[in-house]
Amino acid sequence: MKHNKILILYAHPSPHRSEVNKPMIRAAKKIAGVTVVDLYYEYPNFDIDIDKEQQRLRDHDVIIFQFPLYWYSTPSILKEWQDLVLEYGFAYGSEGTALHGKPMLCVLSAGGKEQAYDLNGLNHFTIRQLLAPIEQMANLTGMRYLPPFTLFNARTAYEERRIPEHLKQYKRLLHALVENRLDIEQAAPLTLLTHKLDDLIAAKED
Ligand SMILES: Cc1cc2nc3c(=O)[nH]c(=O)nc-3n(C[C@H](O)[C@H](O)[C@H](O)COP(=O)(O)O)c2cc1C
Repeated sequence: MKHNKILILYAHPSPHRSEVNKPMIRAAKKIAGVTVVDLYYEYPNFDIDIDKEQQRLRDHDVIIFQFPLYWYSTPSILKEWQDLVLEYGFAYGSEGTALHGKPMLCVLSAGGKEQAYDLNGLNHFTIRQLLAPIEQMANLTGMRYLPPFTLFNARTAYEERRIPEHLKQYKRLLHALVENRLDIEQAAPLTLLTHKLDDLIAAKED
C-alpha cells in the first residue's frame, strides 16, 4: 500500500502559551510520514526561503495548514508564505502543476463556540466560509481541498479536559491520511471534518 507523506505548515505566533496546538504538534512530530514545519520558529523575520518551501511541497503528498484562528483568518505568516511560495509557473499557470492532486486542509483551533460559527450565530459565517480564500487557492493550484478540522472553545479546552479526545481524533486523522484511508470524495463537501471522522475512515475501510 502506498503511504502518503504529510507536510504540516504550522503557524503559531505565541507557541509557548499554546494549550491546544502545542500538544498536537508534539504528537504529530512522532508520526512516521509526517513533517512539521514551524514557520514562526524558522522565519522569525518572515524571510521565507522560497526554493526550500517549494521543494518541501514537491516532496509531500498532503498539505496541512495548522494554526490558531486569528481575526477569522490565519496568523499573518501563512499569508506571507502563500504570497511568496505559490509562484506562477510553480503553483499555477500552464506549467505550474507542482501541487496538482494533493489533498490540502486546515487544522485549526478557535476561541469561539461551534454554534457561533453559523449564519445565525455570533460570527455569521462557518469556518469553511471564513477560510474561502484558502479553499480557492487550493482549487486554483489544483489541490483537493478538504473541510477544516477544528477545535472550538479552545481557550477552555484544557481546564475542561477536552484536549485528550481532540488529540486522539487528530492522530487518527493524520494516520488515516498517511495510510490513505480517509474517504476524500465523501469528505470534500462537508462543512467540517470534525465529528465525521468515524464515517470517513470507516467508509474507506469497507
Ligand atoms: C490576536 C488574536 C486573535 C484571535 N482571533 C480569534 C477569532 O477571530 N476567532 C476565534 O474564535 N478565536 C480567536 N482567537 C482565539 C484563538 O484562536 C485561541 O486562543 C487559540 O485557538 C487557542 O489555541 P492555542 O491554545 O494553541 O493557542 C484570537 C486570539 C488572538 C490572540
